[in-house]
Parts: sequence; structure tokens; C-alpha cells
Amino acid sequence: MEKKPQQVKVFITRGIPDIGIELLKKEGFDVSAWPHDRPMKPGELIEEGKKVNAILTLLTDSIDTNFLNACKHLDIISQFSVGYDNINITEATRLGIPIGYAPGAMSDATADVAFGLMIAVSRKMFYMHKKIAKEEWTYFRPKANLGIELKNKTLGIFGLGRIGLQMAIRCKGAYNMKIIYHNRRENTEAEQLLNATLVTFDELLHQSDVLSVHSALNSETRGIFNKNSFSKMKSSSIFINTARGSIHDEQDLFDALDAGIIWGAGLDVTNPEPMNASNPLLSMPNVAVLPHIGSATVEARNEMSRLAAVNIIEFYKHNNIPNIVNPEALEISKTNRTF
Ligand code: DGY
Repeated sequence: MEKKPQQVKVFITRGIPDIGIELLKKEGFDVSAWPHDRPMKPGELIEEGKKVNAILTLLTDSIDTNFLNACKHLDIISQFSVGYDNINITEATRLGIPIGYAPGAMSDATADVAFGLMIAVSRKMFYMHKKIAKEEWTYFRPKANLGIELKNKTLGIFGLGRIGLQMAIRCKGAYNMKIIYHNRRENTEAEQLLNATLVTFDELLHQSDVLSVHSALNSETRGIFNKNSFSKMKSSSIFINTARGSIHDEQDLFDALDAGIIWGAGLDVTNPEPMNASNPLLSMPNVAVLPHIGSATVEARNEMSRLAAVNIIEFYKHNNIPNIVNPEALEISKTNRTF
């Protein structure tokens, strides 16, 4: 028996672009959203989650064991992002709660940020900008403010998926960079398109002139860029992270930059977020930091909204979640459901 959309209450944990909300409403779903411009606290999330059938979440929501067990009645959780490290997938699967997500929507937008950070760091742009504001632009100095060039250098991608591929395409096209990558699986598309080479993690560290992180955060990648990894990188290398802040150790990164073990760093993600304004990384010449804006374009955020809504609509209409993290949970939920 089909559950009618009118009987389904969907709660959205923040204001998201209208496109997804309108799609849900057009299908007849009973939609409500958190009205405040701040992430929900765990208690607030549980309180709202208890009242609804489906929830559309953000990466700032803590969908942990506590939440999942308090809200195990939920038919579906649909995440408004490609990353879902805020969700305990093992527990959701155990409870038979399928998790949707929104991959692909932000590949270009995030690759643009990684590419922009790489150039900004290579020419110390953020630091130079601040120098003008501090009235430190004196005169043209032939031996000062020197950056490094990117042409024909080696780009190492850690986690070559959709976003990493777009970063590699940009670097190959603009600078004819040699592409190496470290993945669990071979990326044949990148190998054919860009002549990319799969290397070991140590080779990636040793050979990259620019090392750009595009992997998911999980138990294998948490803190993987630490003192030991930075020590294996070239002293002229640039480290870029637009994935998740917890993939690098921030103190170790600062120490590596400070000691000249690596040359520069560009971050769109930090640990914690937001980064404290007094963080010493913000005053370093060869560092550029952005406040997690990888997917912050009109196009990407609209598409994320659409994909997250479609996951919910398709689930109730056709027992299908087009972008699903845990297909096993969908099977479990099919056997448990009365609709
Ligand atoms: C994602 O989709 O995981 C991004 O980090 C959000 O911008």
C-alpha cells in the first residue's frame, strides 16, 4: 500500500534553496523547516525528528546513534551534500533507515575552489591583499613577494572521484600538470582522459608538487595528513584540502609550514569549523583559508536541493532512492514497511 505524500511529514533542518522545497510541496508532501539561521542542536534535532516521517539533513547535523535510536521510526534521511560523515551509517543501516545524498551537484564548484586556492597559495595572494590593507605596499621590489609557477608540475590527488577529476581536468588544461592519484580503486576514466597514474600513498607524498585532497572523511582518512605524511612531502609543495578538515591535523600542518617542510597550504575546510580568528595559519604568507564555500554557487546549491528532494519523492512514489548511501537499508525497510 502506498503512503500518500499528504500523509508524509518532511522536516528540513535549515533553509535550503527553494527548488527542492517546491518539488516536495508540488508532490503534496507536508513540508516544514527549521526557521533559524544556525545549525540545530542535537536535542532540537531529536525533538523535530520525532514528529515527522522523513528528514532532510545538512552536514552540520549530528545524526549519531543517539538521534537514530530516538528517531528510528524515520522512513528516510536525505542529506543535502555529497559528504555524510555526520551520519552514523552503520547504525542507520542496522535500524533499516535508508540514507540519500547529493553527489555530483558540486563537483565543478568545489574543483573551482581547489584550483583557486592552489593559485592563490602559489602567489601568496591572500597575504598580499592583507598587506595592502595594512599600508605595507611600499614599492616594486625585484626580489620580494616571489611565488612559484605551476606549469608542468605534478598534481597529486588524494581521492580521485567526481570532484578530484574536475580539479585534475583544470590543472591539466591550464598548466599541463602531470596527474598522479591515490585511491582505493583505479579511476580508468581519469587514466584515459588525463593519463593519470595510480600511485601508493607514499609515492603521492613524495612526488606531488601540489597535493589536493578530495576524499571522504572516514576511519581510514581521518588525520591521515599528519606530521609523518607532511615530512615525506617536497619542501616546495602545496597542500590543498577542500574535502573535510579532519583529514589533516591542523597543528601538524602549521608546524610543517612553519618549519619549511612544505611550502604552502590552501584550505576550504578546517578543524574545527568555523576556524578561530586567532588561528596562526591565517597570518602565514603561503596560506589561504576559505570558510567551507566549495559548493557555494547558485547552480550547485540548487542542484543539491533538487537531488535531496528527489530522493524523498522517489522513495515514497517508487520505493527507490536515486542516490543512496546504504542500499541494504532500503531492502530492510521494504520488508519492515506497511506501505
Ligand atoms: C559536501 O557536499 O559534502 C560539501 O562539503 C558541502 O559543501
